[in-house]
Amino acid sequence: MSVGAIAPSSRYLAAAMADGAEAFDAIVEVGGGTGAITQALANRNPEARLVVFELSEQLADGLHARFPHAQVVAGAFHENVSVLHDLPQKTVVVSGLPFRSLPAGIVRPTVEALTDVLRVDQARRLVQFSYRLRAPFAAPAGFVWRRVCTVWRNAPPANVWELQGNPVSA
Ligand SMILES: C[S@@+](CC[C@H](N)C(=O)[O-])C[C@H]1O[C@@H](n2cnc3c(N)ncnc32)[C@H](O)[C@@H]1O
Repeated sequence: MSVGAIAPSSRYLAAAMADGAEAFDAIVEVGGGTGAITQALANRNPEARLVVFELSEQLADGLHARFPHAQVVAGAFHENVSVLHDLPQKTVVVSGLPFRSLPAGIVRPTVEALTDVLRVDQARRLVQFSYRLRAPFAAPAGFVWRRVCTVWRNAPPANVWELQGNPVSA
């Protein structure tokens, strides 16, 4: 199984990702892995509804055991997005998906599914990390990337990005 990472995210990267998910009523995490970021999200936002998608059934089982209050969905995000039909307006999506190493045939439907969630409300955003200076994927029409910070205490160092609807094109 390719997870696109050398090691789970450090607690410093997890904390930086959780910074972008404060004050939302629901958090959707895509690519929960072993739960490094999930833990920071759950600690920081105990009241928020938490939905975690994880492709690997084995890792999803681990997440389910570790975070019993979360809704853990095993399988590809874009194939299971229908479980998100009743999200509150104030929803943030947090992703550890390795977009630059995923097959194009997966990237396209995944980005479409993500932007469908974001388009519901201008305040929604995607918080995403990448190991490169380039944006994780090309911003879809009507959206802009903002690079929030670089987390050096991660192997390898990672950039935290936010994708949001472009107010100019709203
Ligand atoms: C780079 S790892 C990040 C894991 C964890 N969030 C962290 O930061 O340590 C990416 C994770 O995304 C999962 N994944 C890959 N493609 C996916 C997809 N289409 N839908 C849901 N999860 C996916 C992988 O199985 C892997 O656990």
